[in-house]
Amino acid sequence: MPDPTPPPLTLFDKALRLLGIAAILAVAVAAFAYVSGRLDPERLKPRDLVNALQTNNGVHPGYRRNHAKGVCVIGYFEGNGQLQGLSSSPVFAQGRTPVVGRFALPSGNPYAPDTSVPLRSFALRFSLANGQQWRTGMNSMPVFPVGTPQAFYAMLKAGTPDPATGKPKPDAMPAFFASHPETGPFLAWVKGAKPSASYATETYNSINAFYLSNADGQRQAVRWAVVPQATDSTPAGPDAGADFLQADLAQRLAGGPLRWTLRMTLAEPGDPVDDASKAWPAGRKTVDAGTLVVERMQPQISGQCRDINYDPTILPSGIEASNDPLLAARSAAYASSYLRRTSEVDQLSANAPAGEAKP
Ligand code: HEM
Repeated sequence: MPDPTPPPLTLFDKALRLLGIAAILAVAVAAFAYVSGRLDPERLKPRDLVNALQTNNGVHPGYRRNHAKGVCVIGYFEGNGQLQGLSSSPVFAQGRTPVVGRFALPSGNPYAPDTSVPLRSFALRFSLANGQQWRTGMNSMPVFPVGTPQAFYAMLKAGTPDPATGKPKPDAMPAFFASHPETGPFLAWVKGAKPSASYATETYNSINAFYLSNADGQRQAVRWAVVPQATDSTPAGPDAGADFLQADLAQRLAGGPLRWTLRMTLAEPGDPVDDASKAWPAGRKTVDAGTLVVERMQPQISGQCRDINYDPTILPSGIEASNDPLLAARSAAYASSYLRRTSEVDQLSANAPAGEAKP
């Protein structure tokens, strides 16, 4: 009968095994160094983007590092079944899906007056009955100024206050726009944009493209928007004050729920799906997928939206991210912002802007 005990390891065998372990460790360390950007000091890191937002807006503990001023809203989405041929997600079947949302202003300053920017944002988290979630953050502009995280970083740098004056260098932003012609469509929109008097009358756009996928594995590139059913859109008047958006929302909700139509715009072959700075030609086919209903609001410092990271890459099956490089950058930057603000949450009520209810 053969002896089952393996022969003792020679010194050479032991050295070979140790070398093998060392090689595996070296590969793991190199992978971590690559992912964290240590091997390439030129590589843009999520923390660089969030640090630049902080430099431009100041640090306001507990608040989002961008879109800091906002309010939570609660409601539901009522699907109408019309998108079911294009997407396998049950969110588009007939029926209700609960939603936790957040309206906000795009700036890292929670004290910014509501007239400071002509932009408003709307973020949504749909909680599907099958346990999946769909999170989306939409803006009221139709296109993003730039198409890459690197260009967005350069734009943030152009807006950095000069320590000597406390304001950005006057020629920095014009120089940035001149060297980034892709900002043209955004600048054309800005020319006619005015701060609205209400969150309820705005259209909010996904801007980034995504894919809908159906049970046969077919994919259709789309951009979506929620289009208000309220029709009394007006710009904010000169005496509107600094914090009228929340008061307007409370007044409207006291009169009943607010509604938006969720509209999908379908790309045609050749439409750019990886560049959020480029609009798609007018006249693209659209499909209305259902109605978003907002029933009540909550203060953001204690409401259900506070601890939600509206990462746009969290998608249910039946919706897929495109290759737009902004999507991955957003996901990473929102995580960095989320980790910072959730570690400071105990400081929130002490820092709450005037008028924001304490928890
Ligand atoms: C590289 C480009 C971008 C960067 C670095 C960036 C960064 C950020 C950060 C750090 C936050 C705060 C996240 C949190 O703490 O929860 C935020 C919020 C937000 N961003 Fe972006 N963003 C980018 C592009 C975009 C684009 C293209 C859109 C298009 C619609 C967008 C829409 C929003 C919205 C709606 C919010 C507010 C979410 C909420 O209400 O909680 N962002 N962004």
